[in-house]
Amino acid sequence: MARKFPKHLLDTERLTIAEISAVLNLAKKYAKQNRNKNKTINKLHGKTLVNLFFEPSTRTRTSFEIAAKRLSADVVNVAVDQSSNKKGETLLDMVMAFNAMQVDAIVIRHSESGVPQFLAPQVDAAIINAGDGTHEHPTQALLDAFTILRHKKTLKNLKIAICGDVQHSRVAHSNIHLLNKFGAKVRIISPPYFMPKDLDKLGVEAFDNMKEGLRDVDVVMTLRIQLERMNEGEFAVSFKEYYQHYGLDHKKLAVAKPNVIVMDPGPINRDVQISSELADDPKFSVVREQIELGVAVRMACLDLLLSEKKN
Ligand code: CP
Repeated sequence: MARKFPKHLLDTERLTIAEISAVLNLAKKYAKQNRNKNKTINKLHGKTLVNLFFEPSTRTRTSFEIAAKRLSADVVNVAVDQSSNKKGETLLDMVMAFNAMQVDAIVIRHSESGVPQFLAPQVDAAIINAGDGTHEHPTQALLDAFTILRHKKTLKNLKIAICGDVQHSRVAHSNIHLLNKFGAKVRIISPPYFMPKDLDKLGVEAFDNMKEGLRDVDVVMTLRIQLERMNEGEFAVSFKEYYQHYGLDHKKLAVAKPNVIVMDPGPINRDVQISSELADDPKFSVVREQIELGVAVRMACLDLLLSEKKN
């Protein structure tokens, strides 16, 4: 049987519209199933997934674990701090050890951009990128698209504003690639020091003013300031000052469409990128829905990556 889905899930930049649509369509079934009393099916019985996270995670790591278990796969969460990585073992040797154990998928998060792409050609297991440096976080963009489509009929021509630290955000990059493929009108709103260096290649409209950028938008995504990717002293303004100009609150949101939805991939730094009140306001915020649907989207990804016969 010919493969309808790539062997690895590395980025949204190279996913086709058909591949993305396959994930989003299958996720509908799993979103329903996840509201059942019995949430588990036998789809991936006998498969093994390794979660290998070199950076902290609440949502992505747990969500992959729950997704795999709901499909009856076995899951191993590697405690990187307790592994032989601490004794000088290279990342490749570590991953090849898991590969030798005949695991079927390795979900990896790493601070260096390009790590999943480097590993993919060297292993038999499917490599799934759970966030590589500032590069991509493909399953976040897939779950974001799935969430938007729950509220809006189509992505085409939707005005979507991505606000904040775009330069360091793998979530922003994955979302921009995906949303552009589906004809959304993506704009970014960032202070000059967080504007991406490759702005001219991204195919987005750029604003450095929230009032102008948020006018008439259908969707707003806020982003955390990624201090861990900056040198000390690089972020030179106070959180209070940043929030005043770039923190999303009800007042700034008033120029958006009345039925605008507000998204944030998390983790949320309350009253920095978004007001605490707005993050919790069910009239606008779909943050918890994003987390719920993330499980369904990751089930769909695992199903498509692992159920099909490999070439
Ligand atoms: N959105 C996201 O990647 O969250 P975590 O860092 O908690 O996994």
